[in-house]
Order: sequence, then C-alpha cells, then structure tokens
Amino acid sequence: MSETPANPVPQHVAIIMDGNGRWAKERRLPRLAGHNAGAKAVERTLKAAQKAGVKILTLYAFSTENWARPADEIDGLFKLLEQTLSRYTKEAEKYGIRLLVSGAKEPLPPSVLEKIEYAVTSTAAHSSFTLNLALNYGARQEIVHAVNALLREGKKEITMQDISQHLYQPDLPDPELIIRTSGEERLSNFLLWQAAYSEFYFSPVLWPDFDEAEFEKSIAAYRTRKRRFGGV
Ligand code: IPE
Ligand code: IPE
Ligand code: MG
Repeated sequence: MSETPANPVPQHVAIIMDGNGRWAKERRLPRLAGHNAGAKAVERTLKAAQKAGVKILTLYAFSTENWARPADEIDGLFKLLEQTLSRYTKEAEKYGIRLLVSGAKEPLPPSVLEKIEYAVTSTAAHSSFTLNLALNYGARQEIVHAVNALLREGKKEITMQDISQHLYQPDLPDPELIIRTSGEERLSNFLLWQAAYSEFYFSPVLWPDFDEAEFEKSIAAYRTRKRRFGGV
C-alpha cells in the first residue's frame, strides 16, 4: 500500500515557464515559434491545475530583465501576451476565473495596460480560480515598490507584515510550490519574498512540452516533501 502523502494539494503554485527558445532552436525555428508553443502549454497547465484542485496559479510570463532581449522578440512576445490576455479575459468571464497581473506598469505600452486593467476589473468578483500573470515582474522591484509605498505612508519603521501587505498581490498566500521548467535551477528574480518557505520542483521538460502529466508529477513530488518551517 502506498503511503499517505505528507501534504495536501497546494493551494498556490507558481511556475517559471522556461525553455521556449531552446525548444524552437531544437526545431530550427525562430524563438517566437517557441513562445507560441509556450502559450499552448499555458492553456494545458491552467486546465491541469484546476483539475488537480489547485486554486491559484502564478505564471512568470515576462521579467524586468527580459527587456535585454532583441527588439523583434520583445515585440512578438508582447503581441502574443496581448492576444493571450484578451482570450483569457473572455474565458475567465465565462468560467468564473479571476485574473491578476503582477509587475511594474512602467514601461508597458498603453494598449497592454488597457487590456490588463479590463481583464482585472471585469473578473475581480470571480472566486473559483485565480490566474496571476507575472508580467514585467521583478521581485527586487516589487520589494522596493512596497517599501516606497510604506515611506509615502510616513512609516519610520516597518514590519514583515507591512511588506507583505504592500506587495503587488497582498491577498494571495505564498506559493507552497514553485516549478521551473527546462532544467535551469534558479529564481531569476521571481517571488523572492514569497518563496521563503516554498518547495521547489525543477522539471527537465522545456516549457512548450509541459503538460498535465508533468504538472501532476510536480504536485505528487510536492506532496511527499517534509516541510519543517524551521521546526522538526
Ligand atoms: C521562457 O523561455 C519565456 C520567457 C522568458 C519570456 P525563454 O525564451 O527564456 O527560453 P530559453 O531559456 O531561451 O530556452
Ligand atoms: C525567467 O526566465 C523569466 C521568465 C520565465 C519569464 P529567463 O530565461 O529570462 O531567465 P534567465 O535569464 O535564464 O535567468
Ligand atoms: Mg530562458
């Protein structure tokens, strides 16, 4: 008989979706073909997460450091992000999903900002599932943003709770599980504050190949972990 897993299904899973470029390179395709295939993996993963009983999915879609990429890749990525955002807004409205977008608004193009604003406000009352897109996101920037907000409030001394309450998504619990695909094992400026006690799962699969089976594998691995939080 198999042992009872140590942990329940995580409420909040965060994913560093990496490997689109390498997936395209393996096929001698332009990097954008990899990003397009990656968008399909987002769809599969969203379904898999809902099926598994996860309630919140945070996806790292574009980092504050990704501006260092060639202009044509950035243009293509933002076109894809806009399309994806519009499609998900419709789906989210239909299926009761709440959309959140985390990241710095500067220097996002106005057309993207409008779509974000609409996506977030039109789905704000939904509660069955939350999809949080980390877009132009940097964790150090997020912490600095929180501290600056606290300074503007006139705080002279701050607590950990103050910082937590001034992050981009103060209402979300910390992710119990952070997955990174493509075999890279680093955070790349993702959720530095929230990851204090997250479990990590590094999948060798390139993001465009990520599917329900691989998602389930990561959840199963998480469930066997012994989380100690500094205790015994
Ligand atoms: C992840 O895939 C997508 C983004 C960072 C936008 P990459 O584009 O980083 O793919 P690799 O790491 O070059 O394979
Ligand atoms: C992290 O991936 C950012 C996203 C997945 C959006 P990168 O591919 O940009 O990270 P590095 O440069 O390999 O650390
Ligand atoms: Mg990468």
